[in-house]
Amino acid sequence: MKFAKYISLLLFILSIFIFIFLHFNTSLIKGNDAVYIGSERCAECHQREHQSWHDSQHPKIFKRFTNDAQIVADY
Ligand code: HEC
Repeated sequence: MKFAKYISLLLFILSIFIFIFLHFNTSLIKGNDAVYIGSERCAECHQREHQSWHDSQHPKIFKRFTNDAQIVADY
């Protein structure tokens, strides 16, 4: 029983160290040369998903409104 507690504590401390290490060293997760490739690249393999997304309101979410006629929702 005492041995199981010791192992659990050890794993707990180890997981904290791993979390902290990965949190501060994010280049290990995403790499140093990560770049935005754009949605058109996704369509190369995900044609149906891209078309569905493209025909929805989602691609327009972050566009700036230039006049009130562009607001389609009833706020
Ligand atoms: C070179 C081909 C290719 C490109 C380009 C590509 N994907 Fe994928 N993607 C795949 C494959 C293969 C899978 C795995 C499909 C499976 O497991 O059924 C996948 C899976 C996914 C999944 C998980 C789907 C699921 O059901 O779990 C997402 C989300 C996803 N891709 C998003 C994207 C996005 C966003 C882009 C563009 C930035 C992109 N993909 C570009 C080939 C590609």
